[in-house]
Order: sequence, then structure tokens, then C-alpha cells
Amino acid sequence: MANIASGIKLLTLLEVKDLAEKEKKCVIVINNRVYDVTKFIDEHPGGEEVLKEQQGRDASSAFEDVGHSSDAREQMKQFEIAELHPDEVKPPVKPRPLVGHNETSGGGGGMSWIKLAIPLLVVTLAIIYFRFTTGKN
Ligand code: HEM
Repeated sequence: MANIASGIKLLTLLEVKDLAEKEKKCVIVINNRVYDVTKFIDEHPGGEEVLKEQQGRDASSAFEDVGHSSDAREQMKQFEIAELHPDEVKPPVKPRPLVGHNETSGGGGGMSWIKLAIPLLVVTLAIIYFRFTTGKN
């Protein structure tokens, strides 16, 4: 059912499976969006096998488990052909933190610094507090 509600094409999981099986297209669902990656199979940096394994299916977890970069997410937009039918929409799978990838990792380092700074601040304030209270006696 290629139903067009507000200009957006909607497909059910069964239709996605049919496109893969009958029309031999490498169509996958990632976070409620349908992608036709038939032309991208040969170019996929993660290899063609992983895409072929997922064809006709919801590959959200497989895609997010890998920890794809923001470049990959930008690239995938050009392959989007439809959205999943609202009756079959699921909560999106959260991306995994990109450990080991060469993304700008400034934010991650900042977090561990804060984790150390908070207890240090508490201890320093406690010392100042006790200095003041004992000094008055
Ligand atoms: C439209 C869909 C997809 C696009 C555009 C895409 C794009 C990319 C790109 C650009 C990379 C290089 C690393 C990066 O930049 O993250 C990559 C790596 C990879 N992708 Fe995909 N991908 C797609 C779907 C999938 C799916 C469904 C799987 C399923 C398991 C998958 C598995 C992998 C793996 C295993 C790697 C290698 C990771 C590594 O060596 O660290 N990809 N993909």
C-alpha cells in the first residue's frame, strides 16, 4: 500500500519484505524510515554482506549497534524512499556512543572532567566550612 497522506510515501514491513524478495531490491528499515540501498551495496564501507543480510527487514538495532558516524547518517538521507506505516512505527533505537571512531571527541572528555570536579568542589567547600567554624571557637 503505497499510500500518500501528506506527500510522504508510507510502506508496511510486509511491503518492504516484498520489495526485497520480489523486486530484488536491497530495501531496509532504519528507525521507521525506509531506505533503498541497492545502488549503495558495493560502496558500503561496512561491506555488502551486512546490508544483504538486513534486506527486507528492520535493521535499526544492527545499524545503531555499529555506531555509525554523523557522515553515514547524512549519507543515508539520499537513499530514503518512504516512511514506515504509522501502525508499525516503533520507538527509535538510540545511537551507541562512537567509541573508537574518529569523531570530534571533545564533548566526551569534558564529561569525565566534570565527574572529577564535582567531588573536589564538595571537599574544598567542606574544608573551608570547617576552617571557618573551628576558627570562631
Ligand atoms: C543507509 C544505510 C547505511 C549507510 C548510509 C551506511 C554507511 C556507512 C558508512 C559511511 C560507514 C563507515 C563508518 C562510518 O562512517 O560510520 C559504515 C560502516 C559500517 N556499516 Fe553501514 N551504513 C548503512 C547501513 C548499515 C546497516 C543496516 C548495517 C547492518 C549491520 C551496517 C553495518 C556497518 C558496519 C559493520 C560497518 C563497519 C564499521 C566499522 O568498521 O567500524 N551499515 N556504514
